[in-house]
Amino acid sequence: MEFDPSQSIARHVRAIPRSGIRDFFDIVQGMKDVISLGVGEPDFVTPWHIREAAIYALERGKTTYTSNLGLLKLREAITASVAGHFQVSYDPRNEILIAVGVSEAMDIAFRAILNPGDEVIYHEPCYVSYAPGIALAHGVPVAVACRAEDGFSVTAEAIERAVTPRSKVLVLNFPTNPTGGTMERGELEKIAALARRHNLLVMTDEIYSELTFEGEHTSIAALPGMKARTIFLHGFSKAYAMTGFRIGYACGPAEIVEAMMRIHQYSMLCASIISQEAALEAIQHGEPDTVEMREQYRLRRNFIVGAFNDMGLPCHRPRGSFYAFPSVRPTGLSSKEFAVRLLEREKVACVPGGAFGPSGEGYLRCCFATALDQIEIACERIARFVKTIH
Ligand SMILES: Cc1ncc(COP(=O)(O)O)c(C=O)c1O
Repeated sequence: MEFDPSQSIARHVRAIPRSGIRDFFDIVQGMKDVISLGVGEPDFVTPWHIREAAIYALERGKTTYTSNLGLLKLREAITASVAGHFQVSYDPRNEILIAVGVSEAMDIAFRAILNPGDEVIYHEPCYVSYAPGIALAHGVPVAVACRAEDGFSVTAEAIERAVTPRSKVLVLNFPTNPTGGTMERGELEKIAALARRHNLLVMTDEIYSELTFEGEHTSIAALPGMKARTIFLHGFSKAYAMTGFRIGYACGPAEIVEAMMRIHQYSMLCASIISQEAALEAIQHGEPDTVEMREQYRLRRNFIVGAFNDMGLPCHRPRGSFYAFPSVRPTGLSSKEFAVRLLEREKVACVPGGAFGPSGEGYLRCCFATALDQIEIACERIARFVKTIH
């Protein structure tokens, strides 16, 4: 009997669709002179002193494994940073795990806490990995749609409607990828009360928290009684322009960190020591770089939001992250039609909002972590394209 490799793929993996972003960017790869507002990655190179720390680590022969949890000195620095910026205190000995990006931290968190059939509630449009990550851990993703009229934040009331006896986890991500939505402390307090009422564990993805332009960012982990039921995920990719270092971390109750560590030690063993040394430099001395990059993003945000509204594509003003999320509904095109035609006619790459869940349909994600002069040209091209449709 002939072997059919496709039949050997596990059913739950077969059910997972390919990322809409990947498919789209395979097309972009083959084209010339494209301005990309597509990939969610800083255009800045990692600040030199951080790169130098990585080089210096190599020079000193730092080429070994580290403890499974990661270097203690990095965990201690994370304790200080999280206490300073988020007002939550974690014990570096057993409440912090260094992972290969927030991506790995989230994956092992889902695998550590979900039993088959457990429901995980998250707000949508959202980062493309949440639903597949939950499904890969045999959980059931439950999306709560957010609206532009609410600035893409989620209400406790909307979450409450999604709660069932099988609900186990609530995932929050503010500022949000792809909408730039943020959350007021008052509403977050209501969500915290809801989590306590329904005995939910909260997973908060804080990866864009430093890129908050207006207002005070509050993590739900900092609200009274919430540390004990929250997994706090954070990383270095966005705030320090360190995507290629692949380094992030999880903080949480010691029992959960221990369970995550058991998966991590048998799958990843530890994060790269070179990246951990670089991350230590970033967290101890990189804040001025983050502030400078944030100011650049703010200028770009102001420009791009104005440009979209001027060309008749309503765009809410993101209070954080580096994404604008204009509506393309006035054109009558679906978000995919708009993105594909824009790419073909004007060579500007944006991600169709539908890639971030059904509630993203009708929108376009435009990453403004691109040089301002490029954003200006891209906006001229998009405006020209929009005129051809009306
Ligand atoms: C909301 C969100 N979480 C997590 C990640 C992954 O981050 P990392 O590079 O730390 O794996 C991203 C990357 O785009 C993201 O947007």
